[in-house]
Amino acid sequence: MKLKNIAIGLAAALSVAACAPKSDMDKYIDDLMSRMTLEQKIGQLNLHSASGFISALRVTEEDENVKLLRAGRLGGIYGSGNTEYLREIQKVALESGAGIPLITGMDVIHGFETVFPVPLALSTSWNPDLVEKTARIAAKEATARGINWVFSPMVDICRDARWGRIVEGGGEDPFLGGELAKAYVYGYQGRDDAFDNTDVMTCVKHYALYGGAEAGRDYNSVFLSRQEALNGYLRPYQQAAYAGAGSYMSSFNEFEGIPATMNTYLMDELLRKAWGFEGFIVSDATAILEEVAHGIGDLQEVSARSLQAGLDMDMNSDGFVGTLEKSLREGRIYQADIDRACRRILEAKYKLGLFDDPFKYLDPERAARDVYTPEHLAFAREAARECLVLLKNDGVLPLKKGTRVAVVGPLANDASAMAGTWSMSSHNAESISLFQGISEVTPATYAEGSWLFKDKEIEENILYGMMKVFAPGRQLPPIHTVPQQKLVADAVAKARQADVVIACVGEVPNMNGEGASRTDISVPDAQVELLKALKATGKPVVMVLVTGRPLTLNWENEQMDAILNVWSPGSEGGRAVADVLFGDYSPSAKLTTSFPRAVGQLPLYYNHKNTGRPHPDDEPYRKFTSCYEDELNGPLYPFGFGLSYTTFEYSPVTLSSAEMPMDGSVTASVTVTNSGGRDADEIVQLYIHDIYATSTRPVKELKGFKKVHIAAGASVKVDFTLTKEELSYFNHDCDWVCEPGDFEIMVGPNSWDTEAVILRVL
Ligand code: NOJ
Repeated sequence: MKLKNIAIGLAAALSVAACAPKSDMDKYIDDLMSRMTLEQKIGQLNLHSASGFISALRVTEEDENVKLLRAGRLGGIYGSGNTEYLREIQKVALESGAGIPLITGMDVIHGFETVFPVPLALSTSWNPDLVEKTARIAAKEATARGINWVFSPMVDICRDARWGRIVEGGGEDPFLGGELAKAYVYGYQGRDDAFDNTDVMTCVKHYALYGGAEAGRDYNSVFLSRQEALNGYLRPYQQAAYAGAGSYMSSFNEFEGIPATMNTYLMDELLRKAWGFEGFIVSDATAILEEVAHGIGDLQEVSARSLQAGLDMDMNSDGFVGTLEKSLREGRIYQADIDRACRRILEAKYKLGLFDDPFKYLDPERAARDVYTPEHLAFAREAARECLVLLKNDGVLPLKKGTRVAVVGPLANDASAMAGTWSMSSHNAESISLFQGISEVTPATYAEGSWLFKDKEIEENILYGMMKVFAPGRQLPPIHTVPQQKLVADAVAKARQADVVIACVGEVPNMNGEGASRTDISVPDAQVELLKALKATGKPVVMVLVTGRPLTLNWENEQMDAILNVWSPGSEGGRAVADVLFGDYSPSAKLTTSFPRAVGQLPLYYNHKNTGRPHPDDEPYRKFTSCYEDELNGPLYPFGFGLSYTTFEYSPVTLSSAEMPMDGSVTASVTVTNSGGRDADEIVQLYIHDIYATSTRPVKELKGFKKVHIAAGASVKVDFTLTKEELSYFNHDCDWVCEPGDFEIMVGPNSWDTEAVILRVL
């Protein structure tokens, strides 16, 4: 949207607002704010983590947060799912200052006590309904513990697997990311506008473009043009706003030389004015304070600038609560800046119903009924089955029940690795490990098989990095106590006695997520040593890959008999994996991130530009074209790829008309036949390519997908409707345009294997 249009729209909105009668909410908040002191208003803008975080148990008068509350200087608290604690601290809030209830947040990311697969895994289901249902269950469980605000969905597009937080998002594609973002919002907040006591307010993060961190290094700068940001990255945040998300979290990175937390373009021009977002924006933890290190100014200056750019709440920087009064006195900010932010936070509390009943989310009866129930666990298993990507299968899978298997590797019997990153509330020890799940259906033996890494220091940093920061000096359990050769030898001995080896390798949860960037994204050396020894036994080796990011798997792809990528599959992970390995469910998941051949290819993404010297993905080096001397351009496994136990055949794609008037529509159709022997699901994908445009366009862009169930031998016709919306993009002036001309319309089972027809837009 052009600035001029925004200004006209704003003027019109203001004149309508001036005449419109005040809503009950506005009247309530006007009255409340008229009774609040300046200090209390600023207090509403202050968010703190619960003291002791997840383990916060009791509320005492010595507690820093209680002192702040008593002084009317705290508006929200996050990080505790302890109902008793939350009830007590809510009481303190009501007794203090203006008696305003707290908003209570938490990082509920992929489930709560019942844990679903990590978000990147969930995205590989390509199933927004499933994602919505996981968010609904998470909302139900979290609200039963006293939480009314979740720091999810994380919708950062990422094209670089070195970035550990790729695991928290929906992959590399903005269209799919947008569909999933809506699903999360609907799931958490419910489909209607009202919040009942099972609905939580979402906080869409990290706004914006955090996934574009240069070189995949966490917190690093983002250097994207505004046009590329709009076309390649911003759609999921936009779709979440359209779905009614209640709040956003600003990100740590800078964009266009300005930290996101004080970026007027992102927060005000785009999110509020262009997309119509009316909720509040909270900073990421200490992000205001970090603007000092970004080199913008001291805490007072960055706090003032962040507020004026449109940020409403300060998470853990104490910049607002510590400096805004002074800035107001000095004329650096206006009273209206503070009032605006305070009003937005009070509106969120009003919408949540906290003024009607501050204990609405603190019903002591609910937890026993609504948390970690057998139904939720059963759904966790169902959900996980849809998120397991079969990357290779030379015919060994599915296994017959009764096959004697050796389940080996450092991830084989690690129940706590199933939940993955951000699962602080999970019942970690009760999660179903891969070995447990498999041994429930077939005779199985277990061996740990190897260390994680040969380098002890790297392994220690991974396992204990968090403790080194939060509990320095604490005695850490020793590692590498059993020699690697012995671990490998034990696993080989078990493998020799089995019919098939199931090698469970990859990443423990601390190897991905926040602050977990890697420059080498291969399966770690110690584990490859194990795989080599297993291969040498001559037994078929099925590799079960636990990971939160794409890894480089060239050797594994050549040497393993099958590779099933199970990510971190959640509470019921082991059982879901067994369901697929033993054929109770035919794998249907497809990748939402390209898997590179070499780390040097990164960033790698299917929707890249052609360049003036294009070079096909699968052709060897040729001088003076855009390629590498030592590696192909293409990924090992492309976006959209995943195998099944059956086979699907696609008819050529047809169009209802070869021409489309600008305001018309056209249907693209294919018939997909299940030509194998099993009923199964298939994810049918539609891509477009704008052949000539006034700005350069990607070689392919996903614009539609459908997941269909097809019985063995049956055929299903799949239709996609195309309008100018699917064919539009942000041009060089950042206007959303559909330009007349020819488009390739492509349909297929993944981003590589597509058939094209030409559509002319008039
Ligand atoms: C920092 C992380 O970047 C963000 O995702 C999270 O929600 C906050 N900390 C709060 O824990």
